[in-house]
Amino acid sequence: MKVLFVCLGNICRSPTAEGIFRQYVEKAGLSDKITMDSAGTSDWHIGKTPDPRTQAAAAVRGYDLSTLRGRQAVPADFAKFDLILAMDNSNLSNLQAIQPANSKAELALYLPRFGISPDEVPDPYYGGEDGFELVLDMLEQASQVLLDEIKARL
Ligand code: 4NP
Repeated sequence: MKVLFVCLGNICRSPTAEGIFRQYVEKAGLSDKITMDSAGTSDWHIGKTPDPRTQAAAAVRGYDLSTLRGRQAVPADFAKFDLILAMDNSNLSNLQAIQPANSKAELALYLPRFGISPDEVPDPYYGGEDGFELVLDMLEQASQVLLDEIKARL
């Protein structure tokens, strides 16, 4: 099972989603069966480490995002991944625009796909510290439901 998390810049929300999910999968002893990556719909932060505010907030909860590097989502991702999860509606429509016709991947909006509201993980980039905590809260909740669903399918 291969999961790709996607946001706009790949320096705030999707690296956080990847780091949290990686730790949940490791703790469940499923690293050989479930892999994950993250990407941005933009090319703005290719090769860059996650935003320092994102890294700091994640580190407080025990997630190390320092080894992650930004990359842009590409059409080939739809052949490589089973599940592609967009953080907001704009990410979703940007992904739909590059989705090949014969795409094998399931493409969905992350939170509603797992029964969580609201629909979007809000972009914390231009906001204050609270935004990063909210992103962590939402993504920890979603990660647990995602893992439970995959475990039930394995
Ligand atoms: P992300 O946040 O999509 O969660 O990584 C953003 C990061 C950078 C920018 C916007 C959103 N930016 O405008 O550079």
